[in-house]
Amino acid sequence: MCGIVGYIGSKQAYPILIKGLKRLEYRGYDSAGVGLISHESKLNVYKAKGKVSNLEDTASQKDTSGHTGIAHTRWATHGEPCQANAHPHLSQSGNLALVHNGIIENYATLREQLQEKGYTFKSSTDTEVLVQLIDYFQTTYDTELLEAIQMALHKVVGAYAIAVLDRRHPGQIIAARKSSPLVIGVGTDEFFLASDATPIVEYTDKVVYLQDGEIAILENGKPLKLVNLDNETQPAEIKKVDMNIGQLEKGGFPHFMLKEIFEQPECINDCMRGRINGTLHEVTLSAVNDHKEQLLNAQRFVIVACGTSWHAGLIGKQLIETFCRIPVEVEYASEFRYRNPVLTNRDVVIAISQSGETADTLAAVELAKSQGAFVYGICNAVGSSIPRITDSGSYIHVGPEIGVASTKAFTGQVTVLTMFALTLGKEKGEISTADYNRIIDELLQIPEKITEVLKQNESIASLSRIFTYAHNFLYLGRGYSYPVALEGALKLKEISYIHAEGYPAAEMKHGPIALVDTEMPVVVIATQNAMYEKIVSNVQETKARKGHIIALINKQDTVIRKIADECIEIPETLECLEPLVTTIPLQLLAYHIAVCKGKDVDQPRNLAKSVTVE
Ligand code: F6R
Repeated sequence: MCGIVGYIGSKQAYPILIKGLKRLEYRGYDSAGVGLISHESKLNVYKAKGKVSNLEDTASQKDTSGHTGIAHTRWATHGEPCQANAHPHLSQSGNLALVHNGIIENYATLREQLQEKGYTFKSSTDTEVLVQLIDYFQTTYDTELLEAIQMALHKVVGAYAIAVLDRRHPGQIIAARKSSPLVIGVGTDEFFLASDATPIVEYTDKVVYLQDGEIAILENGKPLKLVNLDNETQPAEIKKVDMNIGQLEKGGFPHFMLKEIFEQPECINDCMRGRINGTLHEVTLSAVNDHKEQLLNAQRFVIVACGTSWHAGLIGKQLIETFCRIPVEVEYASEFRYRNPVLTNRDVVIAISQSGETADTLAAVELAKSQGAFVYGICNAVGSSIPRITDSGSYIHVGPEIGVASTKAFTGQVTVLTMFALTLGKEKGEISTADYNRIIDELLQIPEKITEVLKQNESIASLSRIFTYAHNFLYLGRGYSYPVALEGALKLKEISYIHAEGYPAAEMKHGPIALVDTEMPVVVIATQNAMYEKIVSNVQETKARKGHIIALINKQDTVIRKIADECIEIPETLECLEPLVTTIPLQLLAYHIAVCKGKDVDQPRNLAKSVTVE
């Protein structure tokens, strides 16, 4: 949510900032802006409503020179998306420019206090309050910028990642973080800063992840300095990022989402690499081994997550309960954090998050830790906030996910949850060797089976054209396929803006079947597993109401093939692994319907990739 970029060094800052903003555009794209200190110590700020390309048009004929600059791409929280509300925000004195990701919760009170002191405001954002507050302390107490920032941050309640420029100090940027991510890139005689490492990796692989309460002073010709709000020096731990530029480009695909759907066979191999030995029939998740006692003695698992990650959690529940015989609850992190849950030190909380930055999931982890639960993270973004505060965890290793609609992260999360359940189930003696071996063999076949499904991309694209008329969709599944139905529905609504609902198929007759008529496409996951006979009846019931049925079936299916209007073939696999395969055509269906409708697939309206505000 909102992306920040900064540069200070010997190069021209503007092109680096613009490129960086484009890499971060998935975090928000309702307006963008840049602030640069020119050779004559002028502070030039350019802003535009909409995407970064609009900002480029706005700045095209202007002075964009300068070696020090900050930039921002916005996802609106306070104040509508418009030029005035875009960042950077300028201080009343005209000396300071500030970009911010997060929410200043007490901004209204601070704003009133500043207005009483003669400050006027040009925007309706919470951010402008912060820059004016810093300006107030700087001018009133005649302090250096750092001290004024420290004074201001002591007054602020909320979450922030900020970067501040002072026109009178062109060789300096000051950045600070609390509950919103910020990464410093350390180059040779230059520094970068960004909300995540993606804008930085093409210049340096050395990064410092700022911790909560830390302030970074980036100065020309000086080493990186970190202090806290009380001005005590903090250690700067330089880490190496393992990400390459190829992973951040579209690689010939029209959209990141399609590229990421097609990457899934490789991603799942990457996720399993070094963890599964097919010859020895062994799964080793090192974090599970390292915390065996804690995990084996768990009286209960509580999975906390949001959105797609929550759907992966629902599959995780079935896997863990089946193979480990430990009860599992799955909670929306946003509900869990505010409902005073009962937790003990024998509970294990599993936090699932692609970005590792989702504010609600992060808060749920903090709550669980404060109540003595052991917390295990399943994340994708290496070095992000959640993996840094959990007791242990496993990365899913699917590479950066740029498309706002999550695809490969979901299958990566389910793969890790499968390995987690297998490792623990074996240790607990709850899974037979025959089942354990069979699942490992079959899991290793999943990338090939996904490749088989991906070969139907063209036919799914043709099928999609039929459904651009639809205003509603139903997705039905049972058992392991029920969370897949939820996920299919979520994919469709977020990128095509068609209303869609996922339902356990048997629940249809308790209400939703009333919605079915000739206008209603009904997607049914009807693979031949233990629930097959039941789902056949559910399909019959839907057909009897003239719903337009799109069924996911196995090749040898002859029953549903005759009832359904459209069929997508799914290679056979074990029931517990089916979500890894059945999810793929639903991602493609949502993608192609959105493309047919001319929607912005990678950056759907009102959404952002990383939800760092609650
Ligand atoms: C849907 C989607 C969101 C995220 C949710 C959680 O396609 O991307 O529903 O799954 O915002 O995000 P993470 O996994 O980063 O915590």
